[in-house]
Amino acid sequence: MYNILNSPINIINFNNQKYYIKRDDLLNSDFSGNKARKFYYFLKKRSLLTNTIVSYGSIQSNAMYSLSVLAKLKKYSFIYYVHHLPTFLENNPQGNLKYSLKNGMVLKIGNWENEQRSYNKLFISEGGAVHKAKIGIKNLANEINQWQKINNIKNLKIFLPSGTGTTALFLQRYLQNKVLTCPCVGDNMYLKKQFLQLERNPKYHPTIIDTHKKFHFGKLYKENYQIWEALKQQTNIEFDLLYDPIGWQTLLRYNDNNNILYIHQGGLKGNETMLARYKKKV
Ligand SMILES: Cc1ncc(COP(=O)(O)O)c(C=O)c1O
Repeated sequence: MYNILNSPINIINFNNQKYYIKRDDLLNSDFSGNKARKFYYFLKKRSLLTNTIVSYGSIQSNAMYSLSVLAKLKKYSFIYYVHHLPTFLENNPQGNLKYSLKNGMVLKIGNWENEQRSYNKLFISEGGAVHKAKIGIKNLANEINQWQKINNIKNLKIFLPSGTGTTALFLQRYLQNKVLTCPCVGDNMYLKKQFLQLERNPKYHPTIIDTHKKFHFGKLYKENYQIWEALKQQTNIEFDLLYDPIGWQTLLRYNDNNNILYIHQGGLKGNETMLARYKKKV
């Protein structure tokens, strides 16, 4: 069965600064990182009283791949909506898309709201931004709390880059420590809106740190690749190429005397296609 709990915490040095890293990337690769947390409830529950999972999002989404594994495991159908399918991918699926299709995913183009509602369909918002995600993220918070207590670590802040903001939001819900995050998909306003959809009271929201410039999600940036490579060389840890380079650039500019625990949220399967794109660009 899947190991989706109790990831280790390592100490690393990056650019002469010490950081703690929560290695959720080491949880099973099908559900590595925050998907293991966000989909914990769906994985563990014996029956979800459904026979079809419906979701939507980007064409190379990590969440899409994890949902395709979940559906296969539970013997459910999986319908996934995208707004657009580039011809080159239609003719030659790659990366997460290829693996999800292999798992039996039915790809549809259009708006997922047009999918006919019925009692046996389970609708999961893009990136697993659903209330049920809090059950698995609470486990992550508990693991951090326990580790901090056992090791008697004072003045600890948590940092993780956000997409939908679901992981950061529910972590803050269950942690006394300040949770810091930055937007990787839209801007601060977009992220704030995402938080509000799941939690109306801003008192429980994480702290948003500004990125030093506007990044377009999925676009290739030389500095993103450079920091990704520097991280790999200095720490021996592979990070993801979409969120982590923005997260680390933001964190390096954030001057603070607190200890920082960085949450590695997995997503390494997605690096396959990102690396191919970067190689082509060079
Ligand atoms: C590797 C990685 N990092 C960060 C995120 C952002 O997580 P969230 O959407 O919960 O903010 C994702 C998306 O799920 C991801 O795949």
